[in-house]
Amino acid sequence: MPLPKEDYVSNTWKDGLFANKVVFCTGGAGTICSAQVRALVHLGASACIVGRNVDKTEKAAQDIATARPGAKVIGIGAVDVRKLESLQNAVDRCVHELGGIDFVIAGAAGNFLASINQLSANAFKSVIDIDVLGSYNTLKATLPHLVESGKKHRIDPKTLKPVPAGTGGRIIFVSATIHYRTMPFQTHVSVAKAGVDALSHSVAIEFGPLGVTSNIIAPGPIGGTEGLDRLLPTDNIDSYTKSQPLGRFGSVRDIADATVYLFAETGSYVSGQTLVVDGASWRMSAGGAASGSLAYPDFLLSGDAVPNVKGQKTSKI
Ligand code: HXC
Repeated sequence: MPLPKEDYVSNTWKDGLFANKVVFCTGGAGTICSAQVRALVHLGASACIVGRNVDKTEKAAQDIATARPGAKVIGIGAVDVRKLESLQNAVDRCVHELGGIDFVIAGAAGNFLASINQLSANAFKSVIDIDVLGSYNTLKATLPHLVESGKKHRIDPKTLKPVPAGTGGRIIFVSATIHYRTMPFQTHVSVAKAGVDALSHSVAIEFGPLGVTSNIIAPGPIGGTEGLDRLLPTDNIDSYTKSQPLGRFGSVRDIADATVYLFAETGSYVSGQTLVVDGASWRMSAGGAASGSLAYPDFLLSGDAVPNVKGQKTSKI
């Protein structure tokens, strides 16, 4: 379904900004990543999104393609970022059909609320595998293409003039702010996102000399997303919103605009950084979702599972 432009990208950027560019995105059918990709497609890019669910991923690609007449968007399902081979096949198809990869968004992630007592070793591993190993696999599968693109779009160190062909060779890892202060029920995600951050910083150092930039976008609470549905119990929404410095949640457009900034010329000298897009949320809320009916530490010590969130465990504990 075509969405009004203001839902997913601001009017700041000029149409055609990303003409002839290709973005590859994991988790691209998700609420945040699909907005990031939709914004890039609106501004001229072609895109390949991958995900585990075939139907959801293919439908999301068709939907994103409505952002611009003539847009090419491929959706490849049955791709699990934990498996390098399935990612590699998707990358090969993307390059074959779209001609290369200029930008990568490593967005696939897993999350649910569980205390350490409620978190099996396998549950911990699942999130580490999706977030950390999945990001590494995404990097490994796309790096040769990022390096190639980085070479073509390199800014001359003497003249420092922008390259007429625009930008390329850029990767963004979608992380979080949860691990900055940590919060109950989020050990697995805190550890995983700290790993993702470290990975991005390493890429910036090792591949900067080859013309690749690597950055992190750390979204705060973004309204209408799978992440927020999993992290914020429905009966805590009002009090949590009120506790936010800007008195509101972020929008997917806020994240998409940050993405455009990093991939466009505006981001040419930005690498090894974290762009936190959270309205100063993390500076306020060390307890995160552990407020209201989840008041710390009473609820944690009760041993109960968090109610009124998506992604609750349905089988054994
Ligand atoms: C305790 C849980 C659990 C829960 C799952 N598990 N949910 N344990 N509490 N609520 C356990 C299972 O019991 C199992 O352990 C293990 O986790 C693996 O579960 P599976 O369902 O077999 O794994 P899998 O199919 O790979 O699913 C991965 C998942 C799932 C992460 C568990 O939730 C998922 O697919 N999520 C993808 C979508 C998602 O999470 N999107 C939100 C991203 S938002 P046992 O021991 O029983 O075998 C996001 C935001 C970050 O990341 C922060 C933003 C601020």
